Amino acid sequence: MPTHHKLVLGNCMSMEELPNESVHLMVTSPPYFNAPFDYEGMYQTYNDYLRVIGTFAHETYRVLKPGRIAVLNIDDMLVKGEKFPIVADATKLFQGAGFRYRDRIIWKKPDGYLRISRRSGVLLQNPYPMYFYPDNLLESIIIFQKGKFNYKSISKEVREQSRVCKKEFQDNGWYMTLWQMTNVLPGSPMEKDIAAFPEELPYRAIKLFAYKGETVLDPFAGSGTTMKVARRLGRNSVGIEIKSSLMPTIKKKTGFSDGQAAELQDGDRFELITRESGRYGPIG
Ligand SMILES: C[S@@+](CC[C@H](N)C(=O)[O-])C[C@H]1O[C@@H](n2cnc3c(N)ncnc32)[C@H](O)[C@@H]1O
Repeated sequence: MPTHHKLVLGNCMSMEELPNESVHLMVTSPPYFNAPFDYEGMYQTYNDYLRVIGTFAHETYRVLKPGRIAVLNIDDMLVKGEKFPIVADATKLFQGAGFRYRDRIIWKKPDGYLRISRRSGVLLQNPYPMYFYPDNLLESIIIFQKGKFNYKSISKEVREQSRVCKKEFQDNGWYMTLWQMTNVLPGSPMEKDIAAFPEELPYRAIKLFAYKGETVLDPFAGSGTTMKVARRLGRNSVGIEIKSSLMPTIKKKTGFSDGQAAELQDGDRFELITRESGRYGPIG
């Protein structure tokens, strides 16, 4: 069945294009609070950041269908020597918006990977007490649910079309609260200047929480990884991205650039909505 992919260029603090209860799954990676490598100085205060997460939680609750799932890749953030408890605060905010906190998965990156400097090197230079700063190889994937899912609402046919491969589930350790996934390397051409997550993350989330033909939302679309994977898996997608300069990247990544052959299925459609500038309009 052909799929439909809608990109909204604008601020996801309002998801006005999406009616109430119109989306089956939300998968995203919100911007990290003032991450030194990506978003330094983006938010004036931590409370400003939490307000963004809170509004995003309420809008997500509004647009999700009853019983459905929100998946956030998020992590505590170290800014100038102070760690901000973002996972705990985001969990509280999602609960406050009405969600049930369902699970926390730890994403472990390969041992050799480090996004910023090796903080542990400080101790090697000064092998004495008080010089310990660990390297971070972990991120969190937190999962929320809006009420209870009605398993009988899915037809037998769609259920079968969406079957999860048991071998993949077992061989790749999806069943655990520790997911080992290789991250996107900084400097990868399609993800330049974007803190993109690996395709494996939305791949697992979509396979585990959305049926074929359903609609997956990513309100912080970035390079369009979730949209790309949704298309590959026969799901519709909606992406919201504030930086209009990312539009060509998203179109290319999802296989809808001008002249790009429809990579996977014929008949798939791409729709672009560019909001007027203003409160919820795009930037740059
Ligand atoms: C961590 S990146 C997402 C990367 C994405 N998962 C990928 O794989 O490419 C967060 C994205 O959210 C966008 N963003 C930040 N604030 C936003 C807002 N209020 N509304 C919509 N997009 C926003 C940023 O421009 C950035 O592209």
